[in-house]
Amino acid sequence: MNEQVVRVVEIEKLTPRIKRFRLVSVNGKLASFSPGSHLAVEIPLAKRQYNSYSLCSSPYQTNFYDLAVLLSENSRGGSEYLHQITTGTELKLGLPKNSFALNSLARKYILIAGGIGITPLISMLFVITRHQIPFELHYAAKSPTECAFYRFLQQYGDRVKFYFSERGNRLNPKQILQEQPLGTHVYLCVPQSLREDCRGAASALGYPKSAVHRELFGAVKTNKFKPFTAVLARSEQRIDVPQDKTLLEALEAAGIKANYSCRAGGCGACEVKVIEGEINHLDSYYSPAEKAEQNRILTCISRAKSKQLVIDL
Ligand code: FES
Repeated sequence: MNEQVVRVVEIEKLTPRIKRFRLVSVNGKLASFSPGSHLAVEIPLAKRQYNSYSLCSSPYQTNFYDLAVLLSENSRGGSEYLHQITTGTELKLGLPKNSFALNSLARKYILIAGGIGITPLISMLFVITRHQIPFELHYAAKSPTECAFYRFLQQYGDRVKFYFSERGNRLNPKQILQEQPLGTHVYLCVPQSLREDCRGAASALGYPKSAVHRELFGAVKTNKFKPFTAVLARSEQRIDVPQDKTLLEALEAAGIKANYSCRAGGCGACEVKVIEGEINHLDSYYSPAEKAEQNRILTCISRAKSKQLVIDL
């Protein structure tokens, strides 16, 4: 990855399980970013890995980046590592990438977040409000205590609605999405079941597919997977992919230049052709019909059912 080295200068506990990290550059200027961007953080554990996190600072300033990180129950070590570092720690980052960009022609934005899914939407708010474009933010969390950026969001008044499950408040996608002006774009950063409900409601109400955008988050538990071998067809190199690493991480560890963006199976940037072997598709990018073709894999998340996969690299 094109590397940036940063130092942690501030850590704030936003909720019992979410911390915000403020990062400044150690060796010059930080790369600029667009709202909705994420970046890869190198986790310097014994088995080096990269985790992607959304930026939640304002894209209008690049003196610092803010990242908010949930201490994940499915952690492969990355969020645990970040939750125990202190100010002064140096980290290596990739350059910002965006697979959840704001459509600049939207007449109105409906932003829907669940839990830690609020992070990319925070960077969007800086831009949407500066351009004075109408918006609504609907944010589902367990309780006010578990709601990151709760106080920050109060400034937007009744344009922000909270749904606390502990109080029995449920977000109703149909109610939110109906009677919105033509040209409304919807941005979803919610768990999968709510995402499907929102997409279903949008489709039933006649929203074009291109007006409904989603960002993925959350780790896939890797301890239920089997190791396999990736055979690179062009060089005949054999790469072992252990149970606790993704194919993308195994390729990177072997020094192979591999494309990626979201690292969560949602954008298609890491796609590689599969020549032989059976794929265990774990992404939410391909349709069931595309998955059944068994000829392309997203290396950041999907694995092999067979002992080996021959891939077009
Ligand atoms: S990097 Fe986005 S799907 Fe793999």
